[in-house]
Amino acid sequence: MKILITGGAGFIGSHISKLLLDQGEKVVLYDNLSKSTKQYCDRRAEFIKGDIRDSKLLKKSLKGINGVIHMAGSTAVDESVKQPLFYLDNNIAGSVTLFEAMKEAGVKKVVFSSSCTVYGFPDNLPIREDAQIQATSPYGATKASIESFLTYYNYLYGFDVIILRYFNPYGIWESHNPETHAIPKFIKAALSKEPLPLYWKGQQVRDFIYIEDLAKAHIAPLKLEGFHIFNVGTEKGTKVIDIVNIISDILGYKLKIKDLGERSGDIPANFASSAKLQKATGWKAKVSLKEGLRRTIEWFKNN
Ligand SMILES: NC(=O)c1ccc[n+]([C@@H]2O[C@H](COP(=O)([O-])OP(=O)(O)OC[C@H]3O[C@@H](n4cnc5c(N)ncnc54)[C@H](O)[C@@H]3O)[C@@H](O)[C@H]2O)c1
Repeated sequence: MKILITGGAGFIGSHISKLLLDQGEKVVLYDNLSKSTKQYCDRRAEFIKGDIRDSKLLKKSLKGINGVIHMAGSTAVDESVKQPLFYLDNNIAGSVTLFEAMKEAGVKKVVFSSSCTVYGFPDNLPIREDAQIQATSPYGATKASIESFLTYYNYLYGFDVIILRYFNPYGIWESHNPETHAIPKFIKAALSKEPLPLYWKGQQVRDFIYIEDLAKAHIAPLKLEGFHIFNVGTEKGTKVIDIVNIISDILGYKLKIKDLGERSGDIPANFASSAKLQKATGWKAKVSLKEGLRRTIEWFKNN
């Protein structure tokens, strides 16, 4: 198979591409490098510097491609609140430009990186895929909208569509700029002996999934046909303060906290049911939180 990964130079895309290449697949990374560099791009992959809003370049790049993993887009909730129109353009218009180019090029398989943000404040835990969609940020709304467009491309043009709603990925090679995710922020602060920035005294519950497990969740779905939506999480809710305590245990010293109080819009608790993905593909998250954090800390120490 030859897979094109949009946003393939980013944190998650670089892990998925390595996994596919290790399995003997051919990979094309398509990224405008607006939020990444080529530092973690695997040399075995072909790289195309391009924007998902560039229809002409996309059509050219899709020649000979069997399927697309679509990860390109803007990813920060806070930024999306400040710039909703940019998110609408980069994420929604960008995705529809890609799907139109795929239609014209006859590439009709797409795995889409969606997010648990589409659920907003969940009514029940763990969250199942049939829970209500009620995004509470422009970022989440772009994901929900792209999912709706994919329903249409499946219905009208017969695209095979696999929507993966990630929960909270973390791990090695994560370097967003600015960094908005708790785990890399905590590790960086802990290693430089600075206070860890903590909202809600760390009482929020999240489903933290190690990047290796998340990347593996993409492999089997690439072979599915039809229309599917799957949560990708560990099925375990962990309080943010517990992350702080595990980091402290691994490093072997006590960490100082910077109490940032309450942040409006934060969901008190979410974690996934991933039973549907397990039933369909046999996939299950395997790396424990302690092991994932140990590997991530080790990587940050050396980088
Ligand atoms: N990391 C998370 O916590 C998380 C959680 C849920 C969903 N996701 C989704 O997974 C995907 C990948 O996330 P990530 O953490 O690897 O983010 P990332 O920022 O590291 O990667 C996204 C990549 O997309 C590229 N990009 C942005 N706009 C583009 C455009 N118009 N054309 C071409 N390339 C463009 C960026 O340069 C970057 O390399 C995103 O769609 C994100 O919304 C991420």
